[in-house]
Amino acid sequence: MSTELRVFEEGVDIWRAMEQRWREIAAAAVSERGTFRTALSGGRTPLGFYCHMSRRREMPWAETEVFQVDERFVPPGSDESNLRMLRRSLLSGGRVKPAGLHGIPTDGASADEAARRYEEDLRESFGREAAWPVFDLVLLGIGRDGHTASLFPGGPELEERQRWVVASSSPAGARERITLTLPVLNSARNVFFLATGAQKRPVLQRVRGGERGRDLPCSLVRPGIGKLAIFVDRAAGSGL
Ligand code: 6PG
Repeated sequence: MSTELRVFEEGVDIWRAMEQRWREIAAAAVSERGTFRTALSGGRTPLGFYCHMSRRREMPWAETEVFQVDERFVPPGSDESNLRMLRRSLLSGGRVKPAGLHGIPTDGASADEAARRYEEDLRESFGREAAWPVFDLVLLGIGRDGHTASLFPGGPELEERQRWVVASSSPAGARERITLTLPVLNSARNVFFLATGAQKRPVLQRVRGGERGRDLPCSLVRPGIGKLAIFVDRAAGSGL
């Protein structure tokens, strides 16, 4: 695994750098496998980037399959829905028409049912014989408590080594969650972490200081074959 930390003055500089790296990864994936599969996180931080990408025509969108990293178990129309946020950012304006948008279905009876249905979708896409789905690019945020995706400090989901998708529980906000598991994140060819603002500095200091463990789930994301890039602004990451 290779890791790089890239610090930028402000958001738009980060977005342009991420866009360029996304373009390179997508071109290689399409050239080698005919498709580019990316799993995208929710939360507030990536919204600006998704809006930035929604205006990028010169991307292989027709060969792109967009998946979710995680979701809150809320009605599809809820303000807290990550899928709704994706539709209203990356897919707004109608310029970005990916070959497929694989949303986590939250219209069922439980978060566990949603997880099983989404895993079924992934197995259809990546092949039932696959040990793990190998995403070309996974975009992750970092919570102030060190969570990433919907993998929370000390959560039992951190030990999952069989399932690709599980239900989890957030200590705050929308409590019931659905999330990709650590083995899936660590099977990715490329992982981006995106963190901005001074409130993310302490958790980044913990990660860059070498802390690793169940209390800091983001520190457990170490893609074995992949590349890890951490994109931050100065407030979050200067001097780390
Ligand atoms: C979610 C995200 C979550 C997010 C972090 C950071 O569903 O909320 O997937 O993992 O990336 O909580 O959230 P912010 O970007 O809002 O700080």
